[in-house]
Parts: sequence; structure tokens; C-alpha cells
Amino acid sequence: MPVRVTRVRREMTGVATLELTPASAFGFVPGQFNMLYMFGLGEVAISLSGDPANENRVVHTVRAVGAVSHAITRLRRNDVLGVRGPYGSYWPVLDSEGSDVVIVAGGLGLAPLRPVIYCVLAHRERYGRVVVLYGARGPADILYRRELEAWRRRLDVDITVTVDHAAADWRGNVGVVPALIERTPIDPDHTVAMVCGPEIMMRFTVDALRQRGLGTDRIFLSMERNMKCAIGFCGHCQFGPAFVCRDGPVFRFDRVAPFFNIREI
Ligand SMILES: Cc1cc2nc3c(=O)[nH]c(=O)nc-3n(C[C@H](O)[C@H](O)[C@H](O)COP(=O)(O)OP(=O)(O)OC[C@H]3O[C@@H](n4cnc5c(N)ncnc54)[C@H](O)[C@@H]3O)c2cc1C
Ligand code: FES
Repeated sequence: MPVRVTRVRREMTGVATLELTPASAFGFVPGQFNMLYMFGLGEVAISLSGDPANENRVVHTVRAVGAVSHAITRLRRNDVLGVRGPYGSYWPVLDSEGSDVVIVAGGLGLAPLRPVIYCVLAHRERYGRVVVLYGARGPADILYRRELEAWRRRLDVDITVTVDHAAADWRGNVGVVPALIERTPIDPDHTVAMVCGPEIMMRFTVDALRQRGLGTDRIFLSMERNMKCAIGFCGHCQFGPAFVCRDGPVFRFDRVAPFFNIREI
């Protein structure tokens, strides 16, 4: 469907968050994605990063890496783009009720996890401990910074941010995000972990979570592959025996473990 851009927020160089207003209510579940179509240029898969409770607003955060994503980040208020979706599997937000939740994100990987944070905080009493561990390259690359700061002011959620590199005026953590897991109290029998970021970051994060005793059936990841059809027809998004568009993008780790560590699969 053609949808109008109602707001654009420049997050950092090359990254923009678009708010779109659909003609009718648009529902989705955290973890799902849309195909965004720039007329005459092409279509790309982009995660839904807004609040699922608001069905009148579709939110996407996009990093410019190629022709289509560049064009999307250059859109302005009142421009129109094509939206197809929502597609794909979702994070186990409902199944985690009663458990502690550990959310681990790297870079733009916070975008598909932000809807989880909205849901968990909206029903905070249904969950145990809630921990968000977020890593960015540098202080200027911290996504949704103001929201992270607002969540950190709450007394019922533990938010830790780290950066890979920083200048001397940075007073926060420096180091990679999997290292934060070593210092986070985790009760392995009562915790569900949701992880999204670059694949190398997810590999180290899964290793760190497993070292803390978390079972492979308690770890969930979101995978990315180039997509074309998004409905399981073309095979572009093949990941081992699975199609990321149809069987993912969110996978329970034990279901992808045999091929997760094979590079370039
Ligand atoms: C389920 C899913 C959710 C996604 N969510 C988001 C999101 O929320 N925000 C966002 O900015 N991007 C997201 N992406 C990635 C996004 O789809 C790609 O960046 C986009 O397709 C690039 O298209 P392009 O035409 O701009 O660039 P292209 O010309 O296709 O590619 C430019 C460069 O980026 C590489 N590339 C392309 N696609 C990917 C990919 N999927 N993973 C890694 N490298 C890639 C190419 O190899 C090439 O080097 C998601 C992808 C998937 C599969
Ligand atoms: S994108 Fe065509 S099968 Fe997944």
C-alpha cells in the first residue's frame, strides 16, 4: 500500500527514523518487518521499530547502505513510499511472561528490539527482572539515546550502554556488548534472552550467555539476509535449511545452532 511519511527524525549520519501514517489500522508483533518500496528503485526489508500498541503509526529506522536504503533515508515529510507487510516471526514477548528478560542489542539491532521494550514496560508487572544491554561504536552512534536515558531513569529496568571507542570526555562504559553479560546477574533457569546485532556480535553474545548457563532454547536471535519476495518463494534469503523471511527473522537459537557458526552460509 502507498503510505505517506508524516515525520522524519535524523538519528545520526546516514540513519533516519520514519513515521508513516497508514490509511487503516496497522498491527504487528515485535520482531516482524515490512518490505519498503521506493518507486522505480526497489524494495528492502526493514524491521518495525515502533510501539505495537499504536496501530495508527508505522515506524522504521533505516541505515543508508545502498541505493534503496539511501533513498529511504532521504525521504521527507509528505513523501509517499510503498509498504508491504508485516512479515516474519516474532520475539517471544508473551511466552516470556513470568521470566526475567535480557535484551542484548548492537548498533541498529536495537531497532527490532525496541517494540519488545515498549511491550514489556507497558506490562511491567508480568515480567521478572528486565535488563537491556546495548552496544554502539561510539557515543555519537547511540540509537534512540533520549529514550534509553528515559528508561534508565526508571527503577524497574536495568539499562547498560557501552561503546567500542570513545574520546576522553565519555564517562560511560567502553568495551564490547558481550563483555557486559559477564557482569550481569542472570538466573539461567528463569531468563529469556533476545539478541540482535551484527552476526559477529551475536556469536560472541550467544557464547557469553551459554557460559552463564542459559539453555539454547532460551536464546532468540534475529537474522538478516538479502530478501526479494519476503513470502518464501524466491529463495534469496536462504539460511541453511530455513528461509529468513518465512521461518525468521527471529529464530530460537537451538533451531539454527547447527549452521549459525558456519560463516557465509
Ligand atoms: C528481516 C530484516 C530486517 C531488517 N531491518 C532493518 C532495519 O530495521 N533497518 C535497516 O537499516 N536495515 C534493515 N535490514 C537490512 C536492509 O534490508 C538492507 O540494508 C537493505 O536491503 C539494503 O538494500 P540497498 O538496496 O539499500 O543496498 P544494497 O545495494 O542491496 O546493498 C548495499 C550493501 O549492503 C549489503 N547488504 C544488503 N542487504 C544486507 C543485509 N540484509 N544484511 C547485511 N548486509 C546487507 C550488501 O551486500 C552491500 O554491500 C533488515 C534486513 C532484514 C532481512
Ligand atoms: S525473500 Fe524470497 S524466499 Fe525469502
